[in-house]
Amino acid sequence: MKTYMTIEDTIGSTPLVRLQRIPGALGDSRGNVILAKLEGNNPAGSVKDRAASSMIRRAEERGEIKPGDTLIEATSGNTGIALAMTAAIRGYKMILIMPDNLSLERRASMTAYGAQLILTKASEGGMEYARDLAMQMQAEGKGKVLDQFANPDNFRAHIESTGPELWEQTGGEITHFVSAMGTTGTIMGVGTYLRTQNPAIQVVGAQPAPGSQIPGIRKWPEAYQPKIYDPAKVDAFELIEQAEAETMARRMAAEEGIFGGISAAGALVAALRVAARVENATIVFIVCDRGDRYLSTGVFNPAP
Ligand SMILES: Cc1ncc(COP(=O)(O)O)c(C=O)c1O
Repeated sequence: MKTYMTIEDTIGSTPLVRLQRIPGALGDSRGNVILAKLEGNNPAGSVKDRAASSMIRRAEERGEIKPGDTLIEATSGNTGIALAMTAAIRGYKMILIMPDNLSLERRASMTAYGAQLILTKASEGGMEYARDLAMQMQAEGKGKVLDQFANPDNFRAHIESTGPELWEQTGGEITHFVSAMGTTGTIMGVGTYLRTQNPAIQVVGAQPAPGSQIPGIRKWPEAYQPKIYDPAKVDAFELIEQAEAETMARRMAAEEGIFGGISAAGALVAALRVAARVENATIVFIVCDRGDRYLSTGVFNPAP
C-alpha cells in the first residue's frame, strides 16, 4: 500500500530563492548573490515548525512526555503556533503564555490549533515575565515547559535539517549565513552545521537596535540570554532599526514578491550590509515567517 506523508512530515525542505531587484546594480557589480530561505512555507508558517517538532518529538523519544500530557511555553508567537500545531498532531494539551501586545493573527492561529492562551500584560515585563510565569507553572505541577531558550533540541533541528538543506541547495557555495536572533536556535544550529562543512563561512546575526521593536527577535538583557546561545559562534552582529526593517518588509513584498515578516526584512537589511562589504559571495538569509502574520499591525499599509 502506498504510504502518505503526515502534516509533520512536510516540515522543512523549504525553497531557497535568489533576490532579483533589491540588491540592484551594487549586487551585480560586486558579483554577490543574495538568497532567501523561505521558512514561511512550513506548514504552520514559520521557521519554528522545525524547532517545535524537534522539541516535542525528542522529549517523547526520551520518555519525558507522552501524549495526553500538558505542555507549557512562553512564546512571542511563532513558536507558540508551531508548538500548537505539533501538540495537535501528537495529542498533547498546549498552554501558551505571551505578552498581550503581540499580533491578533498569532493569537487566533494558536487557538485554531486548540491551544489555551494566557496573556500577560506587556507592561508587566513582556517576554521576561512570560518566561518566569511558565517556570512557575511548571514548579506548581501544571505541565512541562519545553523551554525553547535552553532546549538543545531547538538548535538541533537546524543542525539536522536547515543547515544541511542550505549546504545542499547552494552546492556548497554559501559564504555567508544571516539570521535574525530570537532564541538563537536558528543561527546556532545552522552556523554549527555549516562550519563543519566549511569553517570559513561567516555567520551574521541581526538584532534590533536599542529602542527598536522587531517581533520575534531581541537583544536580550544579560540575565535572560538564551542558554543555547554561544556568542563565539556568531562572527558579526548587525543592529537593525525598526523603521528600516519595516520599510524593507514592504520592499521585499513589492519588489521581490516575497511577503515575509519584519525580522526577515531585518535579516535582509543585514545581508545587504554584508553584500556592500564583500565580493563574489553567496549570502543566504532566513525569511522566518510570512507577512500575512502582521497584516493587522498595519505595517504593510503605512499612513501616507
Ligand atoms: C518572527 C521571528 N523571527 C525570528 C525569530 C528568531 O528565530 P530563533 O528563535 O531561531 O533565533 C523568531 C523566533 O521565534 C521569530 O518568531
